[in-house]
Amino acid sequence: MNSKSGIQIYLPGNESKFIELLPCDVDHTYKATEIGKKFFRFYCENSFAKKQRRAEYYLKKGEIAITMHDVGKTNYMDIIAKGEDITEKEIKAIKEGHVFDGFFILADLKMPQDICTTALCHHEDWNGNGYPIGERAKMNGQKIPFYARSTRLIDFVETGVNNNRLCTRSRIINHGTNLSKADKFDAVILEMNENYADYFDPVALDIFNAMMAEHEIRRNVIKDLEAPEKNYFEVHVPEEIMKIGTK
Ligand SMILES: [Fe+2]
Ligand SMILES: [Fe+2]
Repeated sequence: MNSKSGIQIYLPGNESKFIELLPCDVDHTYKATEIGKKFFRFYCENSFAKKQRRAEYYLKKGEIAITMHDVGKTNYMDIIAKGEDITEKEIKAIKEGHVFDGFFILADLKMPQDICTTALCHHEDWNGNGYPIGERAKMNGQKIPFYARSTRLIDFVETGVNNNRLCTRSRIINHGTNLSKADKFDAVILEMNENYADYFDPVALDIFNAMMAEHEIRRNVIKDLEAPEKNYFEVHVPEEIMKIGTK
């Protein structure tokens, strides 16, 4: 176990990089990744990649993309560590900055384009009201890269249940204080479908809802959300993911 809090990224060719993050962000990233892995698998089994011989490649790429989506926060550790003393101006700086910083950190690691753009676009909304691009250049619908659209949805669920106000621009969903994680999860799913549906890729939302109708997967997702806080984990990036043009 590493004494610092963060993600150890093992790149092909014995290179590695440690991304230092606050425990709450490591925990958020880990849980979002666990849910994301289930989501991408279900997506592949039920849609475009059903007969896709490279389904495992898409799954692994999705997992790496979601694992890396908030790495840009590494540049804002001092501000985030202020906790309750953080100002609205600083929150805005982190929200708008971490997506660009994540993009450049991943580009420096020579990650493939769709992993870099997941960091850049995971707060873009299907309806075009997201950030950092949003209305400025009509970033909406399928113009938002696929992994970023999927990460937007998973991010919403994880942060909705765990109420991490720095992870999403969505308003905080007001849960009763005594609700279990399972009850909070149900409240978030309801909210997502009733009041936020236009934020998300409708296909991704349908697939997510269908996945949640599978009792065993639902149970496992709730288990992911209930798990004790994680402050360190490792990710091994396969060589195949780094190669350009392997789609
Ligand atoms: Fe983010
Ligand atoms: Fe996030």
